[in-house]
Amino acid sequence: MKIGVYPGTFDPTTNGHLDIITRSSQMVDELIVGVLHNSKKQPLFSVEERIEMLRTTTAHLPNVKIKAFSGLLIDFVNQNNAFLIIRGLRAITDFEFELQMAQTNYNLDSNIETVFLATNVQYSFLSSSVVKEVAQFQGHVENFVPPIVAEKLWEKFKK
Ligand code: PNS
Repeated sequence: MKIGVYPGTFDPTTNGHLDIITRSSQMVDELIVGVLHNSKKQPLFSVEERIEMLRTTTAHLPNVKIKAFSGLLIDFVNQNNAFLIIRGLRAITDFEFELQMAQTNYNLDSNIETVFLATNVQYSFLSSSVVKEVAQFQGHVENFVPPIVAEKLWEKFKK
């Protein structure tokens, strides 16, 4: 069975994330979305909230599982018997960090490969940070995130 891992912070899930999840779930038998727990970043949503948003919005994809992880990504990948790390690439600005991460992970374990999916051009500007910034000032995020995430953002930022 071919198992892939799509890791991230997902604070919160965007339509860009869902596009990568949908497309990469067709490339493997099972896709595990790994939600980073102990990020250096201070997330807006707890790991439980981030997992719930991902579970709800991927419920229609039978081979997708959502799990939290902390520590090294490569350990999480091995613990789940996965062989592939999937990351989305939006623009050249993503490339330096993504390349460094892929090369670090390959150095840690050369049995695990990283593949990049080019983000759908309609989401190439989109990031969780931009979504939070817009939502913070009561801007419209309905085109950027699924309805349930828009609701959660509204709850977080309502005065
Ligand atoms: O959504 P993000 O914030 O871009 O995801 C980054 C993530 C979670 C994939 C990355 O920070 C990560 O893998 N963290 C785990 C720690 C680790 O394994 N570091 C070594 C590789 S750089």
